[in-house]
Amino acid sequence: MISTELLQPDKAGIARAAALLSTGALVAFPTETVYGLGADARNSLAVARIFEAKGRPRFNPLIVHVASTAQAQRYVHWSDQAEALARAFWPGPLTLVLPIRADAGLSDLVTADLPSLAIRVPAHPLARQLLTAFDGPVAAPSANPSGRISPTTATHVMAGLDGRIEAVLDGGPCPVGLESTILGLTGAPTLLRHGGLPAEEIEALLGHPLAQDTTPGKLTAPGQMASHYAPHARLRLNATSTAPGEVMLGFGPMHCDLNLSSTASLTEAAANLFPHLHTLDAGGAATIAVAPIPDSGLGRAINDRLRRAAAPRP
Ligand code: TXA
Ligand code: MG
Repeated sequence: MISTELLQPDKAGIARAAALLSTGALVAFPTETVYGLGADARNSLAVARIFEAKGRPRFNPLIVHVASTAQAQRYVHWSDQAEALARAFWPGPLTLVLPIRADAGLSDLVTADLPSLAIRVPAHPLARQLLTAFDGPVAAPSANPSGRISPTTATHVMAGLDGRIEAVLDGGPCPVGLESTILGLTGAPTLLRHGGLPAEEIEALLGHPLAQDTTPGKLTAPGQMASHYAPHARLRLNATSTAPGEVMLGFGPMHCDLNLSSTASLTEAAANLFPHLHTLDAGGAATIAVAPIPDSGLGRAINDRLRRAAAPRP
């Protein structure tokens, strides 16, 4: 057991988090999407400990977080398309998968030996301050035990990883609440994971529909495994009423135990999805009935997470 430090979102906390990363320690930190479990992406021992702490299958590659587009260009082969996307959406909830540079100097565990690298510039002020203070690439999956609900507060991180990581930088709740959208750019632009940036916004910028490769079970991305983001409770989707023993997670004006958004805002629903699942799960319900969510904009990422949370467990 490690004693996990809870760091405050001030100068001292950020300096401590950066110093810990430099020694190969694991530090969970807030991003605008979810909390990430960070390690120095150049240090294989540190990266290996991410997999150990999460209990994560080793073949899953990780996203590298950097402070700026200029930093990203040190690790991947840049392109005009990457430039246009980065100008429009970075910093923010978009991960680009690009060919990795031969001189990237990153641990092979980060890419799982793939010839490509997933990279993003997060928008959260604390993440940016931490990346600037650390001045290097930080590999970070979501800071939860593998397969469980992603964390959107420091309390969620502690509930899953206390005693297994060196520190958590507490930045309060994550504003977006869903992981980044992942876009493959090693060939024609391909949506690899729905996420915090609606696919429609990317399509509007590129001027054409995206190819999609989000088939459950295909191992391009771990968030693509059929069962993922799973609470202990069962989930029943598109529910219009509750059966005995069920709790109701609502959407829009309705009677329910917790509402993702009583005004039917998808932005609010995205931010509430994981915290509400954590809360209902902690209440010990056997089944969570979930109201239908419109399948457009952020609703596509919300429905993707709900389907995986509801999928049969391995
Ligand atoms: O919002 C997010 O993306 C959060 C925060 C912490 O930044 N991170 C996150 O990481 O969701 P993780 O490890 O849970 O998901 C990373 C996804 C995985 O599904 C992984 O397979 C995919 O990125 N990925 C990483 N490298 C890849 C690559 N070279 N090609 C295709 N997919 C890749
Ligand atoms: Mg995850």
